[in-house]
Amino acid sequence: MSAFGIYVHWPFCVAKCPYCDFNSHVRERVDQTRWRDALLAELDHAAQEAPGRAVTSVFFGGGTPSLMPPDTVAAVIERIGKLWRVDAGAEITLEANPSSVEAANFAALRQAGVNRLSLGIQALREEPLRFLGRAHDLQEGLAAIDVARKHFDRYSFDLIYARPDQTLADWRAELDQAIGLAGDHLSLYQLTIERGTRFWTDHAKGKFVVPDEEQAASLYEVTQERLASAGLPAYEISNHAKPGGESRHNLVYWRYEDYVGVGPGAHGRFTSNGAKQATRRSSGPEAWLEQVEAQGHGTAERETVDAKTMQREALMMGLRLAEGVDLQALAQRGVRIELDERKLAPLIDNGLLEKTNGRLVATSAGRQVLNSVLLKLFD
Ligand SMILES: C[S@@+](CC[C@H](N)C(=O)[O-])C[C@H]1O[C@@H](n2cnc3c(N)ncnc32)[C@H](O)[C@@H]1O
Ligand code: SF4
Repeated sequence: MSAFGIYVHWPFCVAKCPYCDFNSHVRERVDQTRWRDALLAELDHAAQEAPGRAVTSVFFGGGTPSLMPPDTVAAVIERIGKLWRVDAGAEITLEANPSSVEAANFAALRQAGVNRLSLGIQALREEPLRFLGRAHDLQEGLAAIDVARKHFDRYSFDLIYARPDQTLADWRAELDQAIGLAGDHLSLYQLTIERGTRFWTDHAKGKFVVPDEEQAASLYEVTQERLASAGLPAYEISNHAKPGGESRHNLVYWRYEDYVGVGPGAHGRFTSNGAKQATRRSSGPEAWLEQVEAQGHGTAERETVDAKTMQREALMMGLRLAEGVDLQALAQRGVRIELDERKLAPLIDNGLLEKTNGRLVATSAGRQVLNSVLLKLFD
């Protein structure tokens, strides 16, 4: 059975973290009734865009969806059940911040139908939590993991590494602690200095220094080794899971399967009349809300994805996975990968890509430098 995911974006946060370039905004007041109604209306529209599918995953992302009233989460899940057939084992994930106020809502979120929680812990050390501008401290982070474990069979948490002055020994110790607290999944991201963030300006002014390429590579390798030997190998560049604990929703993106997106800035990729459609909703929260209220959806762009773009997107996503790209499965879904052997051969010779059993796979070394591999493959 083919997978079909639904992404729901909640764009609000208590404060803007200095490293974050996600579509997230701080607002003093959110009109909860208008927001709930708008999300439901856009779901109605999405069901017209991609009707008759069986939903295998739903993902509430943000922003901070743990700030959504649990009633709104319940209403969204209920509406999805009315608009599509929902697979009995569907994975329903919600991204949560670990403040005590939000942790107090975890039981209600489980009740609403969420069955997997993804927590933004970011660090298991006080000083880096302050550096990252987080609204929670270590004690709150640990308490939230505890509450998550109590209510959810499946939970994951995020950490950010390659932080200023981070030593290999300290990261190893932090990883061991994380492994001890982990459920079936962990996301471990290298700190990226994103343009337009406060960190971008501070970093340019020399206010802090991030690990150089060599140190970052060593931290990455330590991460791979430690997690693999603990039984949570990397199944994607930054994502680790026990076998079967992989995020089914994120696999939809990486395997280039179909999904629709609702909420500000949400993207969709779904097949309609045999062609892949790409949609993007308006990013600004207020603009999106007004558009939905006026016309039933906040679509800013919708286009048919051409064959060349499909090939690029499928490779960009699929080569992130340890399993790589299943060329035949993609072809069956109308995505033909035709690679230039002259570009492929040197990447294989240099140990960055492999072709085995009908799959194109980036090796661990290749995944570490995936952007440059993709540039060489496409240019
Ligand atoms: C949509 S974000 C946020 C989830 C949630 N609002 C939170 O902050 O806990 C998903 C994850 O991306 C990671 N992330 C965001 N910006 C990053 C950056 N600049 N570098 C590395 N990781 C980043 C963080 O680990 C974060 O938890
Ligand atoms: S990291 Fe999470 S809490 Fe912080 S601004 Fe981004 S989305 Fe909001």
